[in-house]
Amino acid sequence: MKIGIIGNGIAGLTAAIGLAKKGFEVTIIGERIDKTNSYLAQAGIALPLLEGDSIRAHVLDTIKAGRYLNDEEVVWAVISKSSEVYDFLLSLGLNFEENEIEGGHSFPRVFTIKNETGKHVIRLLHIRAKELGVHFVKGLAESLAIESKKCYGVFLDGELLKFDATILATGGYTALFKYTAGSPLNLGILIGDAIMKGALASDLEFVQFHPTGFIGKDGVKLVSEAVRGAGAKLVNEDGERFVNELEPRDVVARAIYRKMQSGSGVYLDATGIENFKEKFPQIYSFLVKKGINPERDLIPVTPIAHYSIGGLKVDLYYRTNIKNLYAIGEAANNGFHGANRLASNSLLECIVSGLEVARTVRRDKPKGGSGEIRDTAQELGDIESVKEILWKYAGIVRNENGLLEGLKELEKLEVDERIKLLAKGILECALARKESRGVHYREDYPIIRKEFERHSIFNGRCIL
Ligand code: SIN
Repeated sequence: MKIGIIGNGIAGLTAAIGLAKKGFEVTIIGERIDKTNSYLAQAGIALPLLEGDSIRAHVLDTIKAGRYLNDEEVVWAVISKSSEVYDFLLSLGLNFEENEIEGGHSFPRVFTIKNETGKHVIRLLHIRAKELGVHFVKGLAESLAIESKKCYGVFLDGELLKFDATILATGGYTALFKYTAGSPLNLGILIGDAIMKGALASDLEFVQFHPTGFIGKDGVKLVSEAVRGAGAKLVNEDGERFVNELEPRDVVARAIYRKMQSGSGVYLDATGIENFKEKFPQIYSFLVKKGINPERDLIPVTPIAHYSIGGLKVDLYYRTNIKNLYAIGEAANNGFHGANRLASNSLLECIVSGLEVARTVRRDKPKGGSGEIRDTAQELGDIESVKEILWKYAGIVRNENGLLEGLKELEKLEVDERIKLLAKGILECALARKESRGVHYREDYPIIRKEFERHSIFNGRCIL
């Protein structure tokens, strides 16, 4: 059986290892691993494994941060696999160094390695996958070969690569927003492509903004939540604190946004952290290059797009509604994160979904075949305008007029139709959700509403 995995981040590599270990022929298609979002993941992996902590406490924190939109069965299923995840990581040769507390967690359960956890994990996964004979193809898959709701593989450089099972592990769509510290490759093109060919997406309106981005002249950098976990304070330009730094991200990001709207600059004061340089070496060296010494100076911060909670709708076993097409990691959504992802739950989800989808494919025994399939790759077009529109109208604070205006402006653009469809899904579902919940904040509907405690579905139009 031939398996194709699109994307070589932590989710994709984990799935590849799970399948290759059982003797499957696995091909993984992706750019260099340092181009993935996983490689950039700083803080770590939330695992409730230390004495005094429990699966139940982690589940409750996840659901509370997710503002009760989480699928409880999924949350229990994912977090219950924490020991398996930990053992899997140790079997690769990983050595965690520290445990941190982060926003929304009731326990310091975030396992980290020099605040460059993603880089260390992905390197070891890559080595293991190569040892197991996984075949690596460099490049970006252009479109999915789907016909009559069955997936046959993908197109790469105009050529059809046929697979019995195709696993989408491309990451999400945060690069559709003007400011993000994530991979610029995460435009969600194949998510849009899948929707165009009959796949269902869900919760597209939920895009998490990380409170503490640093927007420099020549790029954006994340100042990890672990810096706040280690004691850094958020202050206005008079040096006054205005929010509890360890509230969940949606609360902190909005507090910063409001402060900025009132005309004040917002800064992270990390001067009280001992050994900043040793604890956060890559943030330190980045900031020093920008002329800011975090051991002495305040760091100017601003919220930036960070994580797409929505994605292709999958079941507990990471199957989409398209035959032989699976989705994992940030590309997928099965309700684990609810309306607001708890910090450091995404690497946990990446590994669990990778291990789990490998089991699902082994059980499903999918069979490919042949059909008359067209390559639907397109020119990217005016992508910068899409980023401007989403940043302006589907950012931290939204309202009906803005979302309608965003849809109008989007319609006029000449841009890859798959991207247009995905952007339309974000705007339309944000318009349909007439409440404020988690990362989705509507100033015209500022409270949470029980009747909206359900997932939105997007199949070309939003159903909520
Ligand atoms: C961070 O280091 O702040 C990012 C971690 C996460 O998004 O879970």
